[in-house]
Amino acid sequence: MDIIKDLFGQRERYVPMTADAFERLPRHVGIIMDGNGRWAKKNKLGVALGHRRGVETLREIIRHTDDLGIGALSIYAFSTENWNRSPEEVGALMQLILDFFASEIDELHEKNVRILILGEKDVFQPRQRETLIRAEERTRANTGLTLNICLNYGGRAEITRAARQIALDVQAGRLSPDAVDEKAVSDRLYTAGQPDVDLMIRTSGEMRLSNFLLWQCAYAEFLFPTVLWPEFTVKDYDEALLAFGGRERRFGGRLTP
Ligand code: IPE
Ligand code: IPE
Ligand code: MG
Repeated sequence: MDIIKDLFGQRERYVPMTADAFERLPRHVGIIMDGNGRWAKKNKLGVALGHRRGVETLREIIRHTDDLGIGALSIYAFSTENWNRSPEEVGALMQLILDFFASEIDELHEKNVRILILGEKDVFQPRQRETLIRAEERTRANTGLTLNICLNYGGRAEITRAARQIALDVQAGRLSPDAVDEKAVSDRLYTAGQPDVDLMIRTSGEMRLSNFLLWQCAYAEFLFPTVLWPEFTVKDYDEALLAFGGRERRFGGRLTP
């Protein structure tokens, strides 16, 4: 993809991080990678090339998240609503997803990254589904970064699925209605056992959640950098992480009397 590299040029590198900033890093980062289509349009390229360039950004962001020792990263790769796009664009995205796993899985596994697919996998073609399941199985016992790749993901669908599982457990007598608390719901989400999202980043200047991690974002801090995802750099990411570290989180309480 030399044409794309030439267009993009040299990426800006890291922002130096102090020991204090390290202490204040989020435990779980969510990213809505938005703006691939606008980037392609701006550069007079097809939308598939925008998504391809977006995958390059993703590689760097995953690597940097791992280098910083952040525990969990959730990336929105394909929403339950993205099926409404043209068959050509959906096809291009599916191919990119397969390519991503083919090219990245060895390195991620080597780095002790645990991959989880968040979203209903049954809708995918067998070849694709197998790729996803194999990536999860191969990295299951890894203890480093948890990488949640959200595919055919919708926050409402996820909560609905948890409600259905609770109903089945109650019906079977495994769970009493009195025991249905927030933990019972959390435990049945795809993110069971993970901390809530601390920092949610959406690129391209759009300020909405678009059905992403609705439950897990209850007390997340939000940042909306205007840069389009294919142009989002590790430096932009570091700046977002530092801005997060400067936020005062109250969780409904009062810190200063
Ligand atoms: C986000 O970029 C990537 C996916 C939905 C997979 P978009 O394709 O939504 O980019 P814009 O919003 O059209 O610029
Ligand atoms: C959200 O972006 C989905 C992903 C980034 C995968 P969209 O571009 O699909 O969201 P809307 O349609 O602008 O809300
Ligand atoms: Mg978009």
